[in-house]
Amino acid sequence: MILVTGGAGYIGSHTVVELLQAGREVVVIDNLCNGSQEAVRRVERITGKVVPLVEGDIRDRHALDAVFAEHAIEAVIHFAGLKAVGESVAKPLAYYDNNVNGTLVLCEAMAAAGVHRLIFSSSATVYGSEAPVPYLESMPRGSTSNPYGTSKAMVEKVLEDLAAADERWSMALLRYFNPIGAHPSGLIGEDPQGIPNNLMPFIAQVAVGRRDELAIFGNDYPTADGTCERDYLHVVDLAVGHLKALKALEAPGVSVYNLGTGQGISVLEMVKSFTRVTGVEVPYRFGARRPGDLPAFWADAAKAERELGWSTERSLDDMMADTWRWQSANPKGYAG
Ligand code: NAD
Ligand code: UD1
Repeated sequence: MILVTGGAGYIGSHTVVELLQAGREVVVIDNLCNGSQEAVRRVERITGKVVPLVEGDIRDRHALDAVFAEHAIEAVIHFAGLKAVGESVAKPLAYYDNNVNGTLVLCEAMAAAGVHRLIFSSSATVYGSEAPVPYLESMPRGSTSNPYGTSKAMVEKVLEDLAAADERWSMALLRYFNPIGAHPSGLIGEDPQGIPNNLMPFIAQVAVGRRDELAIFGNDYPTADGTCERDYLHVVDLAVGHLKALKALEAPGVSVYNLGTGQGISVLEMVKSFTRVTGVEVPYRFGARRPGDLPAFWADAAKAERELGWSTERSLDDMMADTWRWQSANPKGYAG
């Protein structure tokens, strides 16, 4: 049985589908602050399996102890946390509490239950603003520019120290690049609350008529077309990466993997691809740069391919088609 924290959220729900379809048993704990019961119900529809959902907080040690007492957990995939960069600047304590303290409480509960296998959702943001591209796992963590990024770097360090202190631990730190897209069923996808911070859900909401136009944050970057470049990967490929990483947990210690395609795509290319694939125009205008954005970064994803046998299989066109299938069938996300 795998415990999935944050399994009612975007990446977690897609990962639960892949786990169940690979024959793994799963229990989810989520406090539903940014996830939904409906996502879990839809995972059940896709897979035809029952997903036990514990509505609880990872900072609640008693809730965790009860989950470990009730289920024979062999490993934990830990998605639960807060992820909005701008909000983290305004509410740093909430971010350190959920992301750092939450992970500490989780690890304490795991250790008490004798469970020492952990996959952690880290981010490319831990490379900081000075690292040369492509990012390689052997590069040092850099200086992060916001509490969200700092919380990810702090948790990575905590987990490394824990594994160094006790050789029973085996951990995979997965540094995601930019996950987008949705399950090809159109039943689950990304459902941000309020105005989307991230590019792909913003494009999708303009396309479906919920927003008038996309503001492209800067067209004077030193890139081919002046807009920023990122390494976008399909959320189902990312979910599959977790299945492969479970295997890596058979060896003790900490392994770090970039999960990306290895290719940078510009904001303008994203908008054009969306329209080419879906036939839906996305009005846009160029606006000011967003503070903290880097011009361009992408993964060197060779280590995951070499050691996990993982690489992305879904194309940019798949990402666009699947995003649109989800958004057009669920214009208001899980709310209807
Ligand atoms: P999400 O917000 O959709 O999912 C996170 C889930 O965790 C939500 O369902 C939320 O309700 C739950 N949660 C939050 N705090 C909790 C707590 N204290 N106790 C229990 N549940 C809690 O986000 P996501 O996009 O699926 O991201 C999952 C993980 O991956 C996060 O840790 C995020 O920081 C990390 N990550 C995401 C991206 C991305 O682009 N989406 C990139 C890099 C890393
Ligand atoms: C952002 C976070 C990163 C986090 C990731 C996933 C910042 C600085 N970085 O990554 O830490 O891990 O989300 O949650 O916030 N863009 C527009 N218009 C929009 C939205 C985005 O032009 O309305 C551009 C951005 O300038 C960027 C690109 O699209 O160049 C991608 O943006 P986004 O989806 O927010 O991802 P990141 O900034 O890479």
